Formats: sequence, structure tokens, C-alpha cells
Amino acid sequence: MAEKNKTIGILTSGGDCPGLNAAIRGVAKPAVEIYGMKVIGFSNGFQGLMEGNGRELKHDDLSGILTLGGTILGTSRESFKKLRKSPDKIQKMLDTYDKFDLDCLVILGGNGTHKTANLLSEKGLNIIGLPKTIDNDLYGTDLTFGFHSAVDIATEIIDRIHSTAQSHGRVMVIEFMGHDAGWLTLYAGIAGGADVILIPELPYSVERVIEKLRERQDEGKIFSIIAVAEGAMTIDESKMTKKDYKSYYESLPYPSMGYKVAAEIASKAAFEIRVTVPGYQQRGGQPSPYDRILATKFGTYAAQMISRDEYGKMVAISGNVLTAIPLSEIAGKLKLVPKNHRLINAGRLLNTSFGQPRQAD
Ligand code: F6P
Repeated sequence: MAEKNKTIGILTSGGDCPGLNAAIRGVAKPAVEIYGMKVIGFSNGFQGLMEGNGRELKHDDLSGILTLGGTILGTSRESFKKLRKSPDKIQKMLDTYDKFDLDCLVILGGNGTHKTANLLSEKGLNIIGLPKTIDNDLYGTDLTFGFHSAVDIATEIIDRIHSTAQSHGRVMVIEFMGHDAGWLTLYAGIAGGADVILIPELPYSVERVIEKLRERQDEGKIFSIIAVAEGAMTIDESKMTKKDYKSYYESLPYPSMGYKVAAEIASKAAFEIRVTVPGYQQRGGQPSPYDRILATKFGTYAAQMISRDEYGKMVAISGNVLTAIPLSEIAGKLKLVPKNHRLINAGRLLNTSFGQPRQAD
């Protein structure tokens, strides 16, 4: 008897990023056109899976989406902490999987999403994860798609601010996304030639930042660029418990981290300072060619995995080689910037300040 053609589900979950559509296309086009599978796209992440809100994706849905930003499926955030304690919600997802007679579910997401992906895998579903996020903080993979597009955008923002900083002789603080990780700020900061780079992994001293600004003034440089990650913290703050720091930070009068850093500098030195917070621009628009390629590699690799019934894993890239890591090995782990990362060392050799105490910088 001929084997039944597979039916696979696909959804995008968590914050969006450039490259999601390229990855959907990478999985679904070969699935439909090469392997003869049926592909069901679920709307708005796990919400759509709970509600059974899925529709078949055909050739026309998958055509012309390679270069599109966002996600054609829609996305939503679903707290893993809450979900874990909601057996009804989990049951609804299992029921949808059965109702659509799925052989596998492909989940495109970041850290939180992969915890849920692992939970569903533990419940017996055939799951494949694809790593997306502009934060690049997913454990088990060197890169996530979306990251390099965001680096391009963030670098362009630094480049543009350079010229206006120079015209006015100002200190420009630019705040970048990244949650608890400094990857985006580090890469864009180095690519844009920021004078100071502040990332969560290297807690800073305001005094050292000011020293760097004064050093530049003494050299006749009339402006400075500070790239600050939204999760940056001072040395003293880094000694607080996570809970204490959260309530302390929320009690501060600043709209976001860039304003806090600017106020800390202004309280101790007389520079003319301006703050820029590019925000969601960093997640929007077309994926860069790099991300189109990475997402396409990840997606097509996933399609091949489905064809050979290889499940319970997240597709990853390690040393430029595509691979797949068991979800149980990556779920709940963060990939932060190592303190001795080569770009940090490169920055130090170029006299970039990381706001570190003297012996470390
Ligand atoms: O994970 C991507 C990201 O953009 C982070 O850099 C940022 O902290 C967060 O999402 C913002 O979340 P939201 O989209 O829920 O505002």
C-alpha cells in the first residue's frame, strides 16, 4: 500500500523579525512541490494552534514572499510560564494537531517559543524548531535569522547619526534592542564605529564612560557615539538580584535605557547629549540578503528533516555547518556574548570603550 503523504503544520511565534517569510517558504515550497506534502499554516503563533485556526498553504501563498518583512502567518507572544501551568491550553494544541492529522509541526521562534516547542515535543508531537530573532540569543546555534538584518538597520542608524553628531558636537546615545543580550549592540556598535559600547554582559561604570568622552574631547574630537543595549546595566546594578533590579529599574523616571545612560552622564559631566531609540525599526522591513539565505538554508534543511522523519530538534548553524540540536538540549538556555568574544577584543584594540573598570578595558 502506498504511504500516505504527510501533512505538516507551521507557525511563527514571539516577536517578528526579517526572514520569517523566507523561512516559511524554505520549508513549505519543497514540502508541497518536491515531497507532495500538505502544509497547514496556523495564524498568530500558538494562539492559532489553540484555536485550530489553520489553513492550507498553496503555491500562490508561498510565491513572492522571500523578500517580505514580517510574517504572512501573523504572530503573538505566549508566556511559557503561564502556558506550562495551563493544561487546557496545552490540550487544545494537542487536539488541533490531531484534528488536522498532522505528521509534524514546524515552529519558528526564539527562546520562549522553543521552551513551548520542547514541551509539545515531550507531549509526543513531532516538532521541528527554526531559530529566529534579532537578539541572536538562542542557545545551540551560532546565528538566528533576523539578526543580520537588524545589524544592517542598526548600523545604518549609527552612520546617519554620526554626521549630525559631528555637525553639532554632541554626544549621541543610541539604544538598541536585544533583551538581555548585547549581540545586536556589539555588532552594530563595531560596524558603525561607536566610541562607547554598553552591553549587559559587560556591566559599566559611568565614570569610565565619561573618561572616554573627555579623552575624545582632549584629542579634539567634538562628538561621541554611545551604542547602548536596552539590557545594559551598571556594575552596581549587576550585583542586584534579578527581582530587585527589575523593581528598581521600573521605579526610575526614564522611558528606556538610553535615557537612563544619558541622565547618568549628564548628572556628572557637562556634555550636550541627545538620545535616539530606533525601536521596532530594527525588526521591520525586508530581510537582508544574508538573512534570506540563512532562513532559506534553515527552512529547506527542515523540509529534508521532515522527509526523513527527524523530529524533536531545532535547526542550527555551527561553524558554518547546518545541523539540528535536540530541543531538550537548548530549551530554556540563553546564548549571551562571552566576555572574551573576538569582537570585544577587537573593539578594545581599537580603543573602543566598554565602560569597564580600568584593568578590564
Ligand atoms: O526578541 C526581540 C525583541 O525585539 C527584543 O529585542 C525586545 O526586547 C523585545 O522583542 C520587545 O518585545 P515586544 O515585541 O513584545 O515589544
